[in-house]
Amino acid sequence: MKLAFATTECVPYAKTGGLADVAGSLPKALEKLGVEVKVFMPKYLFIDESKHGLHYNWDVGEMLIRVNGKVHSVHLHQAKLPNSNVEINFIDCPHYYNRGTVYTNDSDEDERFILFSKGVIEVLQRLQWTPDVIQCNDWQTGLIPLYIKDNYSWDRMFDHTATVFTIHNIAYQGRFHKSTLHAAEIRPELFYPGGPVEFEDSVSFMKTGIVFSDIINTVSNKYSHEILTPEYGAGLDGILRARKPDVYGILNGVDYDEWNPETDKFLPYKYSINDLSGKLKNKKFLMEHFNLPFDENRPLIGMISRLVLQKGFDIFADALNDLMNLDSQWIILGSGEYRYEEMFRYLSRNLKGKLAAYIGYNNELAHLIEAGADIFLMPSRYEPCGLNQIYSLKYGTVPVVRKTGGLADTVKDWDEENYYGFDHGNGFSFYDYSGFALFKSVERAVNTFAHKDIWRKIQLNGMKLDFSWSRSAEKYVELYKIAKEKRG
Ligand code: ADP
Ligand code: GLC
Repeated sequence: MKLAFATTECVPYAKTGGLADVAGSLPKALEKLGVEVKVFMPKYLFIDESKHGLHYNWDVGEMLIRVNGKVHSVHLHQAKLPNSNVEINFIDCPHYYNRGTVYTNDSDEDERFILFSKGVIEVLQRLQWTPDVIQCNDWQTGLIPLYIKDNYSWDRMFDHTATVFTIHNIAYQGRFHKSTLHAAEIRPELFYPGGPVEFEDSVSFMKTGIVFSDIINTVSNKYSHEILTPEYGAGLDGILRARKPDVYGILNGVDYDEWNPETDKFLPYKYSINDLSGKLKNKKFLMEHFNLPFDENRPLIGMISRLVLQKGFDIFADALNDLMNLDSQWIILGSGEYRYEEMFRYLSRNLKGKLAAYIGYNNELAHLIEAGADIFLMPSRYEPCGLNQIYSLKYGTVPVVRKTGGLADTVKDWDEENYYGFDHGNGFSFYDYSGFALFKSVERAVNTFAHKDIWRKIQLNGMKLDFSWSRSAEKYVELYKIAKEKRG
């Protein structure tokens, strides 16, 4: 099985969210199962060539790729994903990728990913490497299935190449003005109300990916059902329902080489399921760092998140007064929308000793919070998979989550499980999207924290679970076979 995996972010080169973690780990797990994988991503300005061992591919040389009527000089750099043999191909086009951030609000954002999509196909042609499957991820790669099906390739080498379109977040759709048709060289006949590339009079890259791919999948079973409903489908639920037999859900795995308290290189104190003493030391270390008075009997609640509406910060704000009256302390790490950044800046100024916030992106701190916090809060409005709650489970940091998407598939409410006579609860969860429901489950967690034996049991229930990629990667291999069969 030969797989081309197209992504706009990948650990350790560029990351804005969970897609980067997935792209940095799933291909490696697939390689272990015998899949021959080539990963593709744009070569952003900030990727350090020497640190990551990138080398220029002279055989491929200069590629000329036209976007919006202009021809760009494009080059290929290659490297291996760390600790693997997986080849990663960096598509280099300074005009589009020397911008400082992965995504931008620039007026040519469509062109940046048109070039990437065409670039992936061009490189495959230059390398004369025909994949069985191209896995596309999110709207930025949504045109690839169209280009493959619409014979963008001049020598028909992709006639039997299937496409899998993976939705990591249906709310970000890549919608552009009609002029994008010209920029992307999409046949104008494809654009009409209700047509394959049209959505509300705009060109939608997400819809295009959904319509033209052989198989559509998403990153948890629950989310694969949710996106078929108007509540979660962000307008595309009808299109997805029309393709319901082709919609799958595979829960993301995580990379325990990176996220494991026994080996985590960022932790001053390692710990394991057999000896949690290091966890308490990390808590003390973390709290001292943030000038929060340490008290082993008061739970420390952590949040690490993009500060956006998806993540439930509106209901968090609704519950704020009640939450701050609980006997607990808080550490928040995140960046995103100004209103939420300001909320946390304000709170950390006014609730000294109770709440600390780091506004920005900091991977090391993310690891420290996972280890040092007692409770991890993720009240998402929707969550395709979510990785932090899975990391939390492994770190003995009890998650409190809203029961949606991957959160619902991974976190089992302790009280609810008990009610049904089971004792394998590993966290706390709530269903209603409201400040009150959020507060009530945080309150339950805080109250339960006082019962040390029960707490330890909940921690261990989470720590012993295995969300490594092995199982999910096997499911992907099955999915690629289904896609291949469909394509014929
Ligand atoms: P999403 O992709 O929707 O943001 P996920 O839970 O899938 O949510 O993945 C988020 C990833 O980004 C996690 O690895 C998390 O640790 C990381 N992350 C989010 N915000 C920050 C931040 N401010 N600093 C460091 N890491 C962050
Ligand atoms: C998206 C989703 C998140 C998921 C990640 C990786 O960013 O918001 O829930 O874990 O993609 O699939």
